[in-house]
Amino acid sequence: MTRIILDVDTGTDDAAAIMFAALHTGLELVALTTVNGNVPLDYTTDNTLRIVDFLGLSAPVYAGMPAPLVRPNPTRRPESFPTPSVWGDTLDLPPAHSSPRPAHAVDFLIEYYMGPAGPETILVGLGPLTNIAAALKKQPHLTRRIPALYVMGGGHAAGNVDSAPGSEFNIWVDPHAAAVVFASGIERIALFPLDATHRACVTPADCDALEQAGTPVGQAAARFLRKRIHAYNMVQPLERPDTAPVHDALTVAAIVEPGLVQTEHLYVDVEVIPGLAFGRTMIDVLRRGNQRPNTQVALGADEAAFISLLRRVLGAAQQA
Ligand code: RIB
Ligand code: CA
Repeated sequence: MTRIILDVDTGTDDAAAIMFAALHTGLELVALTTVNGNVPLDYTTDNTLRIVDFLGLSAPVYAGMPAPLVRPNPTRRPESFPTPSVWGDTLDLPPAHSSPRPAHAVDFLIEYYMGPAGPETILVGLGPLTNIAAALKKQPHLTRRIPALYVMGGGHAAGNVDSAPGSEFNIWVDPHAAAVVFASGIERIALFPLDATHRACVTPADCDALEQAGTPVGQAAARFLRKRIHAYNMVQPLERPDTAPVHDALTVAAIVEPGLVQTEHLYVDVEVIPGLAFGRTMIDVLRRGNQRPNTQVALGADEAAFISLLRRVLGAAQQA
């Protein structure tokens, strides 16, 4: 059983990742920390609590950083949108009845990783890296205590931010935090950029199959994934219409099934100078620079294997 902590900015794909982590018997979800990202921190925390309550999990939730380390916060409050967001701001689940723990996520991460279980627990960053960078800055010894850090973010040949077309949302929201993380010296950093996640998409037929599984989790997953397909069709059309990546779930799935992705050990840094490339990950795929590789980068994915695993885990009546 692999222990993991998920650092999340819960929207629909974080929700699928949390479900996957909770239901896969090879994973033990120790805790969740929340960060500003898809929506403001109070929303990401509320969404995380909704999903934790829905799944009946005992893993504690800690709220973290409400804004990026340096740059102004680009995340808008959903109330300020002229029309409801197609991405969905509040998860379509019953209101949460549990509360976040009193400790700040950054302090929880430091206390946990400096304690005895730290070196055995993988940390997974599925949102902007603000909490993780803040913890590394506050306690630099964490670098040697975190055995592996899995990060969903960045892109080499793909981006998803309008004002910085080569940048990916999580890294773009807090590029300074991402730069701290990639330069940290953590022994094993695994990056899951859009180059991999856009090659592992769900279709309406996958949603139908999850729905037909007849379980509450399968039905909720079907709703979330249909919403993602609709959102991509509306605002970010992909090469294959009527599909959607489930970025965060692929990242978690690769912990238990590393063969789902093809990785290369490469040097990664982040552009922090304002402009068209703000927040872009510089992934040295040609190995032209002199810098030592610092990250295992997933540049491709096995879509059929991922989708079959996702359907099996999220559609299972019992734990998979
Ligand atoms: O760019 C995709 C990432 O941004 C995903 O983690 C999504 O949940 C958002 O955080
Ligand atoms: Ca996310």
